[in-house]
Formats: sequence, C-alpha cells, structure tokens
Amino acid sequence: MTSTRPQPRPGVLDIAPYVPGKSSAPGVAKVYKLSSNESPLGPSAKAVAAYKAAAARLEDYPDGAVTELRVAIGRVFGLDPERIICGAGSDDLLNLLAHAYLRDGDEVIYTAHGFLMYPIYAFGHGAKPVAVPEKDLTADVDAILAAVSERTRIVFIANPNNPTGTYLPFDEIKRLHQNLPSNVILVLDAAYAEYVQRNDYEAGIELVATTENVVMCRTFSKIHGLAAVRLGWLYGPAHIVDTINRVRNPFNVNTPAMKSGIAAIEDTAHVQKSIAHNAHWLAWLTDEISKLGLKVTPSVANFVLIHFPDTKGRTAKDADEFLTKRGLILRRVSAYGLPNALRLTVGTEEANRLVVRTLAEFVRQAA
Ligand SMILES: Cc1ncc(COP(=O)(O)O)c(C=O)c1O
Repeated sequence: MTSTRPQPRPGVLDIAPYVPGKSSAPGVAKVYKLSSNESPLGPSAKAVAAYKAAAARLEDYPDGAVTELRVAIGRVFGLDPERIICGAGSDDLLNLLAHAYLRDGDEVIYTAHGFLMYPIYAFGHGAKPVAVPEKDLTADVDAILAAVSERTRIVFIANPNNPTGTYLPFDEIKRLHQNLPSNVILVLDAAYAEYVQRNDYEAGIELVATTENVVMCRTFSKIHGLAAVRLGWLYGPAHIVDTINRVRNPFNVNTPAMKSGIAAIEDTAHVQKSIAHNAHWLAWLTDEISKLGLKVTPSVANFVLIHFPDTKGRTAKDADEFLTKRGLILRRVSAYGLPNALRLTVGTEEANRLVVRTLAEFVRQAA
C-alpha cells in the first residue's frame, strides 16, 4: 500500500542528524567542556555589555540589512560592506548557499574528514555529497579536482578543517580555484582563521575579491566567544550576495547578536588575548600529549586531534569514558571517520593541565 503520509523531499531522510558535543558528565561536580571548540576566555566584556544594553529594546524588529555590523566588519577587514551578508551563525550562511544553488541530483564535494554539516546541507537540498579522500588528514587538491563532475555545484573546504586542525596553504587554495570550472562555487569556511599563525595561510579575502565563484564564511562563535548568540558572516562576489539576500530570512540576525558582534569585532585587544592564549596552550598541549606516547595531529586551530591505539582498554572510547568520569568532556569523532581519535578544544590553563594529568593517568593504568 502506498503511504499517504506527507513525505519529505528525497535526501532528507538520508541525513544522520548532527550530534553536538556533549556538555555534561553525570555525577561529576565540576565539568570542563572541551568538546565544541568554544572560547576558554569567553567574549569581550564590551560584547556582553552591548548584548545587555540591547535588551532595553526587544520590542523592535532588528535591522534586516544588519548594516551597522556589516559596516563594522568592513572597517576591520577593509572590505566593501555591500559584499557582506550576516547570518545566524556561519551554519545559516552555509545552508543558504546550498539552498540557493543546489538542484536535485547535483553533487557537492567535501573532504573525507571535513565538517559534518556539509553532507547534511547537500542531502537537505536533494544533492549528493561526494566525500573525497584526504592525504595525512589534510584536504588533497588533486583528489578534489579528480572528483569534480558536470554535476558538481559546490566545493566546501573548511580551512583550517574541523576536526583535524590541518589547513591548506594559499597556493594550494589558488591552485584548486584555478582548476575548478567557473560555474562551481568554492566555499572557504574559515571558522578558525583567526587562530592560524602561518605565513602561507590566507582565509580567502584575496580570492573572493578577485574572482566570481569563491565565498568565504566566518563566525563569531570561536575567537569572539559568542557561540550562544549565533552570528556569522559571508564575504562573496556581488552576484552571489544578491542571490543569497533573496532567499535569506529578512531577520536572520537578531539585535542583541548584532550589537554584541560589533563590540566583539572592535575589541581587538580581547581578540589578541584569545589568539595569544590559544597559541601558547595549543603548542603546550601538543607537546605534553605527544610526550605521553599519543599521536597528535599538528593543528593550527583551537583544538587538537588525539589518536589512540586500537588495543582493548586503550582506545578512544576507553579514554573518553575515563576522562568523562573525571569531568573532562572531549569530542568523539567516529562520525567523521575517525573512530580512534578524540578532539580536544584548547581550554583554560586549569582545564589544559587537568586534561594532560588525566590522560597521563589513563595511559599509565592502561599500560
Ligand atoms: C568548520 C566549521 N564551520 C562552521 C561552523 C559553524 O559555526 P557557527 O557557530 O558559526 O554556525 C563550525 C562550528 O563548529 C565549524 O567547525
């Protein structure tokens, strides 16, 4: 019998719903959440004050054009505000790109250990996500180019990538772009750009400014510590900005988010403090965890991927249980094709030292 129930569009039921990082450890007094790449320093005090001040006018609709924030971003980055779109997190903008550009049967390329929302956006719009193999847990430009077909519409690259923490230098991004058909959109998802301290890295501004098919997405959820308000932005060619603005929910950014975002992006001292904290503790965690005999993928972001042996009692799952019992919540990354790794967000000094001490204990007791 044919079902008469309402049916979703093809692809939607192929989605494995996104599972966010855990945030609790039952029975543990103090919990350290190191599972969602949030900022250990939190937002700028000025951003919090701006958020609170916005509470005085909650009866008013937000400015649908988000002008004040686009102008502030334009000022800080030297960009034309007309080519910026703001969204409820960069997730909103990535989804809008998929919504505006994908047709049933199209293909979307992402990399094997790439951010898991990309296949969700593809399926959600009737397209087929094509996962391309990586090399040394890093996006591989040749493999991506080899996967391009006549049906390819979007290539999503998280640079740096979550959950591996690896990145592609600008030369490689340029080579990728040069060899992509001009009707394919290259999305440079630079959620972790501020943390990168490499001379050969460029988040995407130059390529967006000089081409017709590249967009860059950024977020306030990481370096600015504003994950709860949901705020992100996109810089793109005028024709793509115009297209997205036609399908965008007119009030996708609320006023407290906009006001706190402006204060955050203008508080460069707080941004610098967060960058310095991360640079110091990222290096420290990488060294200390490696010294325990665990392999750590070199990361340029605000998290590290820790690899565990396959042996019973020593696996990532065992380590996760051991750490969770002690209030340390890391991220399992099996859904990213990394069943024997855990992703650890750089935390406060207290959390970082506790993680290393606890991992040392885990390694000792499992030996
Ligand atoms: C690579 C990447 N892109 C996008 C996002 C989404 O960020 P937002 O909070 O701005 O939606 C994340 C969040 O974890 C991410 O890791």
